[in-house]
Amino acid sequence: MTELQPIPDDWTYAPAPESRDIVTLEREYGLFVGGEWLAPSETYTTLAPRDEEPLAQVAQGTEEDVDRAVQAARGAFANGWSSLPGSERAKYLFRIARILQERSREFAVLESLNGGKPIKESRDVDLPLAAAHFFYYAGWADKLEYAFPNRRPRPVGVAGQIIPWNFPLLMLAWKVAPALACGNTVVLKPAETTPLTALLFCDVLRQAELPPGVVNIVTGDGRTGAALVEHEDVDKIAFTGSTEVGKAIQRRLAGTGKKLTLELGGKAANIVFDDCALDQAVEGIVNGIYFNQGHVCCAGSRLFVQESIYEPLVEKLKQRLTTLRVGDPLDKNTDVGAINSRMQLEKIEELVAAGKEEGAEIYQPPCRLPEKGYWFAPTVFTNVAQSYRIAQEEIFGPVLSVLTFRTPDEAVEKANNTPYGLSAGVWTEKGSRILWMAQQMRAGVVWANTFNRFDPTSPFGGYKESGFGREGGLHGLEPYLTFDDSETFGG
Ligand code: NAI
Ligand code: MG
Repeated sequence: MTELQPIPDDWTYAPAPESRDIVTLEREYGLFVGGEWLAPSETYTTLAPRDEEPLAQVAQGTEEDVDRAVQAARGAFANGWSSLPGSERAKYLFRIARILQERSREFAVLESLNGGKPIKESRDVDLPLAAAHFFYYAGWADKLEYAFPNRRPRPVGVAGQIIPWNFPLLMLAWKVAPALACGNTVVLKPAETTPLTALLFCDVLRQAELPPGVVNIVTGDGRTGAALVEHEDVDKIAFTGSTEVGKAIQRRLAGTGKKLTLELGGKAANIVFDDCALDQAVEGIVNGIYFNQGHVCCAGSRLFVQESIYEPLVEKLKQRLTTLRVGDPLDKNTDVGAINSRMQLEKIEELVAAGKEEGAEIYQPPCRLPEKGYWFAPTVFTNVAQSYRIAQEEIFGPVLSVLTFRTPDEAVEKANNTPYGLSAGVWTEKGSRILWMAQQMRAGVVWANTFNRFDPTSPFGGYKESGFGREGGLHGLEPYLTFDDSETFGG
């Protein structure tokens, strides 16, 4: 008989850091244009948000750089890519998908290092979804005629794509995969704080032997993005980022005939009815707002709780928060990583201070934050009025505002009382109520008894100030196509 081990009384986790040896960083990165690396005329330093370690020098793309990239994309579009049979384009996309899977650990480590998100998430969410997106759109490349029968779909031309820092590689996949599947070529600008996985992706393109100029990557800040928006030879802009910049882009493009899709901010309502499975709801609330440090456009940042279960729910939620592990993004046990940038940390701090000032009650679990780097503890605000800034503005951090309601009608009215409309969550055992709520919510995605679920087959996008156009699914092809019938029907 084996001897009985004493029951441990300390359940703290030992450190489980993922090795970063798999990632090889260059000292300096240029611009990926026409399949080659152009030397940058100006560079800046990209950091690891967990400790502000400088990682590499990255190009601040100029107007001339953007122009060269657009020319390369135009050349590749005219010289073969757009006229390639869809089944041939599909082969490249399948290859890219498979290479991303093969190199997923390398990409996951780099994503967590440069962006601050927990390795658990980059490994289990960002990378599998990015590969899945390429697989999915590879499947459409030779079936566009079936997707849009009798409409003669044709590629739009050169797509300018501007992406944010919260899901750097995944947003690249959302943009690049449908564009290529439809026969377009691309100039993509990653966010200034998280350029490294997009730059590593250029090596995937080399491995996949994608023809030069089909995908061009130009790094830099908003000025580089603006140069891409303004370039006369770009046919379509796809933007994901702040509502403020989205509006500016829309104004800039009005009347130019360029196609545009915008995926902007959100202030999603997560609505919990008293008949729900309470423990599952608590898990969904936690996932909804603390996933990726709350840097999620569809984050469930406004929690609406039916009054009769308010106390037990808030109690359970606070209890659950004490078990979240905040710390090193490269540690496999970490639940909440580093805030992406100093700028974003300051924005979160400012809004949290406003919440306290306006009279909301703050709760943060006891947790020791690292001294270096950008950190913010998971936060819950109770006693929140709808008029408070923390209930109105997108915080884009690990901060939840709890509000209450009595009846389903009141829940609908309060949930829709926002300029945004990207997503919503409903927690209830009643199927009929789920369907009714889904119809009432002015939101592009409504999750029921779950939250933050993504699938490449499912269209994603907003209402109102959350933007327009859909990414994912069949709908995600349309922004990258023109149709012969559009002349006849003005569509
Ligand atoms: P941002 O909208 O400035 O940046 C997003 C992308 O747009 C980046 O690649 C940036 O370089 C580019 N950009 C900036 N100015 C531009 C311009 N004038 N023309 C063209 N491209 C431009 O967002 P930022 O400043 O990083 O974050 C501010 C707030 O925006 C966040 O606190 C958050 O609330 C929201 N946000 C929402 C995102 C979403 O997924 N819906 C993503 C990122 C930020
Ligand atoms: Mg900005």
